[in-house]
Parts: sequence; structure tokens; C-alpha cells
Amino acid sequence: MNEILIPLAYLVASVLFIMGLKGLTHPKTAVRGNRLGATGMLIALVVTLFDQHVLTFEWIIAGLAVGALVGAILAAKIEMTAMPELVAMFNGFGGIASSLVAGAELVKFAGGGSIGAIPVAQFTIAAGTSGLIGMVTFTGSMIAFGKLRGLVSTGVVTYPGAQIVKILFALACLALIVMIVMDPGNIQNYWILMAAAAILGVLAVIPIGGADMPVVVALLNSYSGIAAAATGFVLNNTVLIIAGSLVGASGIILTMIMCKAMNRSLANVLFGTWGDSAQSSMPGADEIYEGRIKTTSAEEVAMMLDGASSVIIVPGYGLAVAQAQHTVRDLSNLLKANGTDVKYAIHPVAGRMPGHMNVLLAEADIPYDELVEMDVVNPAFQQCDVAIVLGANDVVNPVARDDPNSPIAGMPILDADKARTVVIVKRSLSPGFAGIPNPLFAADNTLMFFGDAKKNMLDLVAAIKDS
Ligand code: TAP
Repeated sequence: MNEILIPLAYLVASVLFIMGLKGLTHPKTAVRGNRLGATGMLIALVVTLFDQHVLTFEWIIAGLAVGALVGAILAAKIEMTAMPELVAMFNGFGGIASSLVAGAELVKFAGGGSIGAIPVAQFTIAAGTSGLIGMVTFTGSMIAFGKLRGLVSTGVVTYPGAQIVKILFALACLALIVMIVMDPGNIQNYWILMAAAAILGVLAVIPIGGADMPVVVALLNSYSGIAAAATGFVLNNTVLIIAGSLVGASGIILTMIMCKAMNRSLANVLFGTWGDSAQSSMPGADEIYEGRIKTTSAEEVAMMLDGASSVIIVPGYGLAVAQAQHTVRDLSNLLKANGTDVKYAIHPVAGRMPGHMNVLLAEADIPYDELVEMDVVNPAFQQCDVAIVLGANDVVNPVARDDPNSPIAGMPILDADKARTVVIVKRSLSPGFAGIPNPLFAADNTLMFFGDAKKNMLDLVAAIKDS
């Protein structure tokens, strides 16, 4: 009976995972998608407990309770801007869990335990792969977490011969996997592999600048999936193989989307030194801004908006920091009531994580059809009376388009500079994520509305109501 029911339940769980992923592709269906995926995971978990020879349910229940409690607290407390750090932690723990489970199976096998119908070669190759990728994911993710939190140097850390050292460690890991396959009874090799892979994870991530960490986190997410799939082969567990493959594939797709949106190759992210090398060839901030910055006030912007028939709001990371999404919704409601056409221009890497702006604006119940993707909205800037750049910087920096020497050269940007008037809301002339000055702040058609995004939006709403 179990031979039919368990694979059937695994199939149902896998279908739910795929439907969940499909749901996550659109904000409207994302919550449903999340629930479908979680239901699939619950089914997979319960069925696995019935399938396996569980020694003590007490430990499993205790683990579930502690995990659920920590997860619930983290989910409730975490700031939206710190989400990439949380994801880095999750990836890391997923990686080490896969390695430890594979290691435990190997220990059992070395002690004479049965591995059922699994061919020994499949078992040992998969265990070695899980040990390697799982540990690289764990320590790599911990370094990524440290860089995002500012606990580890966020700069580009390089030293002579860095690539050679990494290659030597990678070769040593591969040699250890071969030794595990040839002599699975010698469990020592597995622990040495885990230690070498742990060092490799640190060496791989430490040289990458903090600016690239979100891409690295997406890549490590993919690795954690591959490690889980490898452990699925160790255990001969179909649902783990499918779930791991889905994570592995979606992680790599996301990584490629992020690289494309920044006009970078994955190799350039992993081995390049973005943000450091090209900076020197660009004019300095003083040279760009000196004597050219024009400031404005809430009252002046309110008057401008009163006569505007088309307004495009460009949200960026500062909107998330200031939590100005509800206030900007109030502003756009006022403008729409006045007959103004209002759109939000969404850049694929605005903010600090994929879909960051969509999530924030959805939280404030801003209708999805007002959120317009970059390629679609860009031609509209030319007919736009006022573009309000709200806490965004790099995603509207024209040097990406105009200066081949800039570190962000070739990155597709929102053409906010083509609007009749550009109002920039930010606290100072500080650079954004890429660490470079933005000539848009000094452009003839630009007015700087200095201050916190939320406070400035509140002042603007008040000024419009008063006028
Ligand atoms: P950024 O270029 O990082 O600029 C954000 C601006 O927000 C800063 O210049 C800052 O200026 C301002 N700011 C911060 N707090 C504020 C507040 N309370 N009120 C008002 N303004 C505030 O942001 P962006 O334009 O969204 O670009 C995103 C960057 O992240 C890109 O370089 C992108 O490549 C990178 N990145 C994104 C992702 C994803 S997936 N989203 C992944 C990797 C890299 P002040 O300090 O002067 O206020």
C-alpha cells in the first residue's frame, strides 16, 4: 500500500511546488502560490515521516516547534530592507543541513548499514557532491550575511594568487570526492571534504564587493537547491530531488535576470571588481555638482503638480528605508482626483531584492496596473510633466547610458531625465549602491527636494491640500 501512496503523495507535493512557483510570478497570485508551496512542503514532510524508520518522534516534534518559533519571530520582526540577509541565512542553513544528512547516511553505510536498492556509486557521488556544495553554500552564505550586515568588510577583498588558491581548493575537494567514491568506508575523507569546502565557500565570497551580495545570495540559493537535490539522491527520495532541482533552477534563473538587469555577466560578478576599478576614470562629485544644484520645497512642488497632466513616480531603495509607500499612495490619490495621470516606473533592480518595489507598493494597496515595467514606461517619460524620483539613484543615473567608463555603463536605466521636470527626493547628494555621483542631480530640468522620503511626501500632501 505504502509503495503506491507515498510516491503518489510525493507527486501531489511536487505538483503543489510547481503551482506555487507559478503563483509567485505575479503579485496578485503570490500569496496563493506561497500557500500552495507550503502545503506541498507539509504533505512531503508528513509522508516522509511515515516512510522512514523514525526513531523518536519527540526530537522531530521538538525540532519542528523550535524551527517554527524562530521562523515566525524572524518573519514578523525582519525589516523589508534586511530581507536579503535573512534569505542568505536560510540558504546557508539549507546547505549545511543537506551536507550533514548526506554525512550521516555515509556514516551509517560505513558502519555496515544498508542503503537499499541505491547503487553504491550513486550514493557516494551524491554524498560527496552534497558535502561539497552544501558546505560552500553554508560558509559562503555566512560571509554574504556578514557583508550585508556590515560585520565583514564590504569592500572588494583581493590578494595575489587569489584565483589559484581557489582553484587548488576546488581540485582538492574533487579529489576528496573521488576518494570517498573509491573508499566509502573511510569516513574521515568526508569530514576533510566538508572542512575544505567550508574554506572554499569563504574564499569564493570574501573577494566579492558588498554591492554584488544580492546576486551572490541568489546564486547561493541555487547552490542550496543543488545540495538538497544531491541529498535526495543519497536518500533516494524523489520529492527532495524535485524540490532541490526546482530551487536550483529558479535560483540560477533569478541570478541571470539580476545580472542582465545590471548589464553584467555572472563571471564579472564572481571574479570582477565592480564599483572599484572604473570609479577613478569618472569625474568626481564636486566637479559634477558644484554650483549646479537647484533645490525646491513642498509648496513649489505642489504648485508644479497642480498644473501637471502626467506624473511618473520612480521608487527606489530610499522609499523602502523611509517606509513612504503609504504616503506616496495618498499623494497619487490626490493627484488622480485632480485628473492627473499617475504611473510608477519599476526598475528590475530598484531597491535591494528582486521585486522589492512591487512588494512595497502592493503593501500600500497601489493598483498593479499603475506599476509599469521599465521597457514599457521609458517612452512615456518624454510626455511626462513631472517625474518624482523617490529615494532612487542608480536606476536613473544617465551615466549608465552616456559614459562607457562608468562602473554601471550599459546597465538599462529609467529615462527619468527625459521628463519635463525631474524632482529628486533624497536626504543629501550621497551616492547610491554603486557608489558613484549622479549627473541627473545637476541637470537643468532637475530640482532637488532634500529630506526623508516619508517626511517630504507628508509635507507635499499637506501643501497640495492647502493650495
Ligand atoms: P540606490 O542607487 O541604492 O539609491 C538609493 C538612494 O536612496 C540613496 O542615494 C539615498 O540617498 C536614498 N535614501 C536612503 N534613505 C532615504 C530616505 N530615508 N529618504 C529618502 N531617500 C533615501 O537605489 P536604487 O536607485 O533603488 O538602485 C538600486 C541599486 O541596488 C542598484 O545599483 C542595483 O544594481 C543595486 N542592486 C539591486 C538589487 C536588487 S535585486 N534590487 C540587487 C543587487 C544590486 P541619501 O542618503 O542622500 O538619502
